[in-house]
Amino acid sequence: MKSLINTQGGIDAPNLLKKCHIITFGCQMNEYDSWRMAQMLSREYVLTPFPEDADLILINTCSIREKAEHKLYSLLGRLKGLKDKNPSLRIGVTGCVAQQLGSQLFKKAAHVDMVLGPQAIYSLPRVLESLEQGKTRLALTRLTDNFHIPATAGPALERNDVRAFVTIMQGCDNFCTYCIVPHVRGRETSRPPIDIIREIESLVNQGIKDITLLGQNVNSYGKGLGEDIDFPRLLTEIDRRFPGLRLRFTTSHPKDLSDPLIECFPGLKTLCEHLHLPVQSGSNRILKRMNRKYSIEKYLERVEKLRAACPSITLTTDIIVGFPGEAEEDFQATVELLETVRFDQIFAFRYSERPATAAAGFGHKVPEEIRRERLCQVIDLQKTIGLKQYQRYENTVMECLIEKGHNMKLQGRTRGNHVVNLSGSDQLIGEILDVFIEKACHHSLKGRIVN
Ligand code: SAH
Ligand code: SF4
Ligand code: F3S
Repeated sequence: MKSLINTQGGIDAPNLLKKCHIITFGCQMNEYDSWRMAQMLSREYVLTPFPEDADLILINTCSIREKAEHKLYSLLGRLKGLKDKNPSLRIGVTGCVAQQLGSQLFKKAAHVDMVLGPQAIYSLPRVLESLEQGKTRLALTRLTDNFHIPATAGPALERNDVRAFVTIMQGCDNFCTYCIVPHVRGRETSRPPIDIIREIESLVNQGIKDITLLGQNVNSYGKGLGEDIDFPRLLTEIDRRFPGLRLRFTTSHPKDLSDPLIECFPGLKTLCEHLHLPVQSGSNRILKRMNRKYSIEKYLERVEKLRAACPSITLTTDIIVGFPGEAEEDFQATVELLETVRFDQIFAFRYSERPATAAAGFGHKVPEEIRRERLCQVIDLQKTIGLKQYQRYENTVMECLIEKGHNMKLQGRTRGNHVVNLSGSDQLIGEILDVFIEKACHHSLKGRIVN
């Protein structure tokens, strides 16, 4: 869970502005959407890190797994007291759970004033106005097939970060059988390159040094925009215009990882050598039941080609264990895959049944305790593999962007997306420095600045 905090609200901030507290669950696309909401409101509201000071509380939700959904209810329970104390407080639920439940949420939590799905967040100022004019409650959750993400308008929101996310596409057309995203984010829609370039330009002008382009399946970017644009061309254009930038993207679907995209890694100086390539399972039988549309042989062939084109590339992945029908031998195939590819990091999840998905109706559910056991096994295995992978960087010099720091303790990031802890003055934040790696830990590196 993240709260957005900005630096507004200091001595010069007009006291006339109201206060908004935003809580964000879920993926980076939700973080991006939270920024968009903050920006849309910035003429009337400043952000506050304190919910008890807020005139408006927005909860941007995630429904990828059941646990994510439950977090919303416990939070809403805690916020009820604030609304009882201050009846003029507005509470809005946005994002994927909002889309999933719509106006049913009012039944679960009567103190919620508005429910906005991911396509509806752009109506937030209008919805607040309706509430001001006496409307009691509003739920906007209609998904349309011809939705377009509006261009950013109005003043840039002040940031005190060196990294930022830019959503380049929304929705997903892949319908993996376990996944709720296509049902709550709607059909895939790509933003025009000009909107993306303008947004990056504004971020670069504010001192942002590292940008991650976001989408559920970025390598199918460009669908519906015409012949002359696709994802590798978008990357090439950004690289040409912003040569000082560090550029990243997530997430890529293995089935759409094309040769021209692989060539971007050695070819584009701004593009960082890291690819998050979710594999989900090592078993062809399970991949088929998941509707992933690639085989393990194809996945391994892509990995080999990537590593040949860009030997320093860092690979990370997502794994689901305990998908319906996953037999011991399927699970062993996942273990084998992890041993073969040797990812620097993995994000492993127990299968969680989601409403409206095809897999919710599949038989041969794996008992919960076996799901837990398998999750522990992959996490333990990856601990060993990950540490060994990280040890390869010991006694080398890596280029680090210093991202944050305090009391002479700094945190930086390598081009390969490894977190590096080091000592130094916080005046170095925003600098790209050569760092000597002294020691590898499980999820980070320890280093010192090279003079
Ligand atoms: N668009 C991305 C993934 C988005 S969701 C992609 O296709 O790779 C992030 C991760 O959550 C997925 O990669 C998957 O590993 C996991 N996930 C999605 N639905 C899940 C479910 N029902 N149960 C458990 N994990 C799930
Ligand atoms: Fe979900 Fe699959 Fe789409 Fe990723 S590609 S968001 S896992 S349906
Ligand atoms: Fe969660 Fe929605 Fe992202 S379900 S992972 S917040 S797209």
